[in-house]
Amino acid sequence: MERTFCMIKPDGVRRRLIGDIIARFERKGLTVVALDFCTLTQDQAERHYAEHKDKPFFAELVAFITSGPVVPMVLEGPDAVAAARALIGATDPLKAAAGTIRGDYGLRLSENVIHGADSPASAKRETANILPDCNI
Ligand code: TYD
Ligand code: MG
Repeated sequence: MERTFCMIKPDGVRRRLIGDIIARFERKGLTVVALDFCTLTQDQAERHYAEHKDKPFFAELVAFITSGPVVPMVLEGPDAVAAARALIGATDPLKAAAGTIRGDYGLRLSENVIHGADSPASAKRETANILPDCNI
């Protein structure tokens, strides 16, 4: 069993996609083992996206992810990191396959509905930052 960290972004919450997105993960066989509804602080957002701090889109990314409430969660299942990333689809919603979350709901790279950790180590780090009461 593996655990991963995913987070419905402010656009997904604003568009009332929380239930639909969680249902997709659950239908696949992943189990929600932690869940919250909160607005990230500037510090949490900057830590979450630290790997992108030198990119030209960093300021816009942090402004967007703190622009409203998010739904961070920990999902558990066999190969949970890869399973969740497969359901989420490619970073650019225009390139994400139909049937994936981003492929079905997104149009803009900067507002792509959901985040998914890219490795077990990232999942651990992101969970500690955003769901500090949850040990994974
Ligand atoms: P990244 O970690 O590359 O993608 P993923 O979310 O698939 O792991 O990028 C983090 C987020 O930054 C991405 O979800 C959307 C945003 N982003 C931009 O706004 N512009 C860009 O050019 C890129 C590459 C990402
Ligand atoms: Mg990433």
